[in-house]
Amino acid sequence: MQIATTIDEVRQHISAARAEGRRIGFVPTMGFLHEGHLSLIDVARAEGADFIAVSIFVNPKQFGPNEDLSRYPRNEEGDKRLLEGKDVDLLFLPPVEVMYPPGSQTMVTVGGVAKPLEGERRPGHFDGVATVVLKLFNIVQCDVAAFGRKDAQQCAVIERMVSDLDVPVRLIFGETLREADGLAMSSRNSYLSRDERAIAPVLQRALRAGEEVIRGGGDVAAAERAMCDACSAVEIDYLVVVDPATFERPEDLRRELLLAGAIRIGRTRLIDNIRIQSPA
Ligand code: PAJ
Repeated sequence: MQIATTIDEVRQHISAARAEGRRIGFVPTMGFLHEGHLSLIDVARAEGADFIAVSIFVNPKQFGPNEDLSRYPRNEEGDKRLLEGKDVDLLFLPPVEVMYPPGSQTMVTVGGVAKPLEGERRPGHFDGVATVVLKLFNIVQCDVAAFGRKDAQQCAVIERMVSDLDVPVRLIFGETLREADGLAMSSRNSYLSRDERAIAPVLQRALRAGEEVIRGGGDVAAAERAMCDACSAVEIDYLVVVDPATFERPEDLRRELLLAGAIRIGRTRLIDNIRIQSPA
């Protein structure tokens, strides 16, 4: 695995791969890698990528002032071993000054779909995500890029940006990988104490309870009530049924629905979602 820390190094490796006729697949991450991240490498390969680039960059611009930037978990050596094990070709590990040199002033703002839910609770978060992802796309110049549906709204925001700004990258979305008890894998799960970890699967169970209500013919309000009831022991940020295209309240229950939630357990904020294909 080649390791690059500068933009020039990445471009050299990518040009060499292109000269060999290889199709570049890209998986951007913030590190502290788990099986969910690694599954996206397989998703990119399944899409025909035969040169895999992964980035690890804890992007300060997507963290709010009271969020967990300073304590975000890191394990560079462990991550490198996992990526070697997946036959990754190139790891981009940029320092902050490489991504945001002094004087940089441009941010990408996505409208509508970036506004509700995470956008409302985490002001500026999606501007930071869109900006860093567009920069990474311009640096890596991949053919395909893989993102996880665990961050469903992030997928929609990036899809919107790629479409609106004519970014020549094919996006692919991978399913959420879960622990045996249903908890969605996340780097942030490492914050949970043993007792908190035991409570955490409640989020997934709540989403399933909401799904059951919809499948049984219940409406959005009833599904949301069921989800909130299932999470009564924890602090709820939101537990909602939305249209997966807009992240607003669905107008038509016969179309695909997204049940999405964010809860807090102690100091840890967890998000998760499930899609219901066609309940009616
Ligand atoms: P990070 O949280 O490290 O996630 C990197 C990628 O892994 C994202 O596409 C995310 O959706 C995916 N992922 C996380 N948990 C997953 C799981 N349990 N199953 C499947 N995929 C999972 O998301 C980010 O980083 C950043 O916002 C980033 C896109 C890198 C921009 O900074």
